[in-house]
Amino acid sequence: MTTIQQALTQGISRDIDSLDAQLLLAHVLQVERSTLYAYPERELTPAQEQQYLALIERRAQDEPVAYLVGHKEFYGLDLIVDNRVLIPRPETELLIDTALHVCRQKIAAGSIPIVADIGTGSGAIPIALAVNEPRLPYLYATDISSDALAVASLNCQRNHVHQRVRLLQGDLIAPLPEPVDLLTANLPYVGASETAQLTPDVQNYEPHLALFSGPDGLDLLERFLTDVARSNVLKAEGVVLLEIGYQQRERLAQMIYALWPQAKLSIYKDYAGWDRVLQVTLSS
Ligand SMILES: C[S@@+](CC[C@H](N)C(=O)[O-])C[C@H]1O[C@@H](n2cnc3c(N)ncnc32)[C@H](O)[C@@H]1O
Repeated sequence: MTTIQQALTQGISRDIDSLDAQLLLAHVLQVERSTLYAYPERELTPAQEQQYLALIERRAQDEPVAYLVGHKEFYGLDLIVDNRVLIPRPETELLIDTALHVCRQKIAAGSIPIVADIGTGSGAIPIALAVNEPRLPYLYATDISSDALAVASLNCQRNHVHQRVRLLQGDLIAPLPEPVDLLTANLPYVGASETAQLTPDVQNYEPHLALFSGPDGLDLLERFLTDVARSNVLKAEGVVLLEIGYQQRERLAQMIYALWPQAKLSIYKDYAGWDRVLQVTLSS
C-alpha cells in the first residue's frame, strides 16, 4: 500500500512540481491540501493510487493541472475549466478590480451600468462582476466559440448568476442587442511570432482560438476597437477595459486616438509590473 507521503515523492520523482503533485493527490482523495500534511501516513486505496498515477503521467506530458482537476479558482470563485476554454489567469483579476471601480463610480453618480464582456471563455469576467456587484441587474457575455459558451453556462449556474449573465454566441460585439456603458475584453493577444515563448502546457493544451491573434497579437483588438467606434454599441461617456500584452500599449494607444481623438486613456500594471489593463474613457 502506498501512503500519501510516498505518493507525493513518486510525483516529484516524475519531475512534477511538488505543489502540482499535492493538488492532484488532494483532488483524487477529495480532501483539502492541508489534509495531506496532517496525515502523511494515510494509505491510498489501489483505485486512488491508479487514478493519481494516471494524472501524474498526464501532468508529465504538460497537461495543465486545472484541466486535470477540472476547475480553477478565480477572484475567489470556483470555475469549471476544460480544454474548451482558456484557464483564467491571475492577471485578469486586475481587470475585475478596475471594472468594479468603474461600475461603482457610475452607480454612485446615479446610473446603473449595462456591462458586456467580449470573448468571455469560461465566463470568468462577467461572473466575477455579477457576484461582486449585485446591483448590476444583468450583463452580456459574448464568445465566437459555442464550446466555450457551454462551459460559461455551467459556471453561471455553479455561481448562481445564470439569470443575470446573458450568454450570446457570435463575432465580437455583433450579438449585443443594445448599447452598453462598459465593455470588458480579454481577447486573444498573443502574436504568432511569440509562439516559441509559450510554455508547452499553454501551447499544446489551451485553445488556440483563445490565444492567438495575427502576427503581433493585435488583429482582434484592432478589429474590436474599430467595430466599437463604427457602431453605437458604446454609450456616450462609455468605458472600454482591455487586457493587453505587455508590449502592446503604444500601438493600441495610437489606434485608440485615431478612432477617438478625445478619449482618455489609463494604464494599470499587473503585480509583475507589466502594463496589463488599458482603460479607454469616451468623452463627449
Ligand atoms: C484570452 S481568452 C479569454 C477568456 C476569458 N475572458 C478570460 O479572461 O479567462 C479569449 C476568448 O475570446 C474568444 N474569441 C476569439 N475570437 C473571438 C471573436 N472573433 N469574437 C468573440 N470571441 C472570440 C475565444 O473563444 C476565447 O474564449
